[in-house]
Amino acid sequence: MEALVSNTWYAVERSANLKLRPTTVERLGNRYVLWRSAAGVHAAPAQCPHRGADLGDGRVRNGCLTCPYHGIAFTGDGTAVHRPAQGCEEHIPKKAGLRTVPAVEVHGYVWIWHGDATPTDGPEWFDGDDSSVIVGADQTWDVHYSRFMESALDFHHVPFVHGRYAPGAGQRLTDIDLRDDGMRLSMSAALTNEKGRSLPVAGEVIMPCSLQVTIGATSFVAVGTPVDDHRTWVAANYKPSYTARIPGVRWVEAWLAMVVDFKLFQRQDRAIYEALDPGPSPLEHMALMPADRGAALWIRRWRELAAPIDRP
Ligand code: FES
Ligand SMILES: [Fe+2]
Repeated sequence: MEALVSNTWYAVERSANLKLRPTTVERLGNRYVLWRSAAGVHAAPAQCPHRGADLGDGRVRNGCLTCPYHGIAFTGDGTAVHRPAQGCEEHIPKKAGLRTVPAVEVHGYVWIWHGDATPTDGPEWFDGDDSSVIVGADQTWDVHYSRFMESALDFHHVPFVHGRYAPGAGQRLTDIDLRDDGMRLSMSAALTNEKGRSLPVAGEVIMPCSLQVTIGATSFVAVGTPVDDHRTWVAANYKPSYTARIPGVRWVEAWLAMVVDFKLFQRQDRAIYEALDPGPSPLEHMALMPADRGAALWIRRWRELAAPIDRP
């Protein structure tokens, strides 16, 4: 796949979606099988090296990923340890094993590493994000991931796209404070109406694909992971808006935030994004204005980091 940032972690599944059975996900232009063992989560290309079955249709047995077609068993590091048709073998060739990719589970997501370098640390994340209560939702949208991510720091669409659900949002973007810390970009501002009333908004992006947004009382974290050159996996997790201490109440708050944002706001965003020109963010063909500083910064940073893109 083109235009990927290398040597970084990508969130590829919500933790809640990966149960005891393995699953196959389409991300970063490939299909990956994800599975759990006592040692943690694991990831590898989803096609069995034997004759190509989808390992996501297999099972985890005795701690090993087992192919659904002829039952070859793989350990968490990808080694093939049992080929049932061959009985008890002393030596199974290395090429019968899987080429696993580094995987970790943290912050409510399963992440895989993309790149040739060896990861020295886990994924960067947002300070103060409370992962003790996680209610989330995910969907695949027909939009290039750069178009989704460039919008993380775009707040002046709110009164137009989401005005029905955000009546306090004025049309003028004021009090802009944009920060560039390399892999972290953040912006706070206010959506101010003609009477001078403002709705505070804030966002932070961790390059390339993680974002945290607060609009009024609603706050969420999300990832926009590339599926391929045309589609993006959008997966958001919600936090309680207020400070209730009772776990059940906190869960209900997070669930309400999910319904408001994912089912209402993001549905409106999706309709806009999917009607954009397909393909990566065309920076030089956009007539940007000062209120777009956040979006422009994300695009510039992404272009510095991503593999070269063929542009017409
Ligand atoms: S295709 Fe997987 S064991 Fe044969
Ligand atoms: Fe939006």
